Amino acid sequence: MQLISTGVKGLDELLGGGLPKGKCVLVVGSPGAGKTILQMQFLTSGAKADERGLYVAMDETPEQVKTNLSSFGWDIEGLEKNGEILFLDATMLRQGGIRKNNVLVSSKFEDSSEPKITVRFLVETITKIVKEEDIQRIAVDPVTSIMLRYDATFKKRRALLTFFDSLINSGCTSLVSTELRTGMLSRSFQLEEFLSQGVILMHTMVHAGTVIRAIQVEKMRGIAHDAQLRPYQITSKGIEVYPKDRVFESQPT
Ligand SMILES: Nc1ncnc2c1ncn2[C@@H]1O[C@H](COP(=O)(O)OP(=O)(O)O)[C@@H](O)[C@H]1O
Ligand SMILES: [Mg+2]
Repeated sequence: MQLISTGVKGLDELLGGGLPKGKCVLVVGSPGAGKTILQMQFLTSGAKADERGLYVAMDETPEQVKTNLSSFGWDIEGLEKNGEILFLDATMLRQGGIRKNNVLVSSKFEDSSEPKITVRFLVETITKIVKEEDIQRIAVDPVTSIMLRYDATFKKRRALLTFFDSLINSGCTSLVSTELRTGMLSRSFQLEEFLSQGVILMHTMVHAGTVIRAIQVEKMRGIAHDAQLRPYQITSKGIEVYPKDRVFESQPT
């Protein structure tokens, strides 16, 4: 299996070299964990390796994301201008939906000539851009809003499967973020974790009054990886993972 760099050296080390090329890996974490930062590091390092990236903005607009990440000095605007990173604004998918013919459409578009924003439409758009622009890396941030469109679990499952399948069939390596919806260490598995080929968890916990950040490769099909909790920090350079360090004194190495 060919492995490609995440753009974070210490994380590559945990993964035994990097992400499995052509697969779809989930990044799970609470708000502020650094998921967006990690995803953009993945795309900017792709640009250095001559792999074009597509950032699919599901929650915050591309402009908000670029502003939030401006302090890291990655020259995202420059990379965008050169066509090395492309941005797709899919935030409309999230706006107040109504159910119509069993498909959720944005109420905003109900009586207008604008296209209905559906998961299928999003999939088709991404597929088209990947082909036309020769994209090799995709970041979807976050995938949560796809699920919010459906009540029934089987519908969420079906929509997610369709979405993940389309990412895998595109031939790209994808990093998809999702919000941690339950407690940290005693949490239950989330639907999207079962459906993806790999899961990276970003934990934020308070221990003895101090905030501790820990990253963990929970699963990565076909790869022998380190499954321990490892400390990470967000610095002016982005995410830094310390692959040899322990989070707790009592933790095995
Ligand atoms: N320049 C910076 N230096 C250090 N930490 C930063 C910097 N910019 C943002 N952060 C940290 O990154 C966090 C946001 O990261 P982000 O990737 O947006 O999180 P998520 O996408 O998981 O919600 C903030 O909570 C803040 O702690
Ligand atoms: Mg984010």
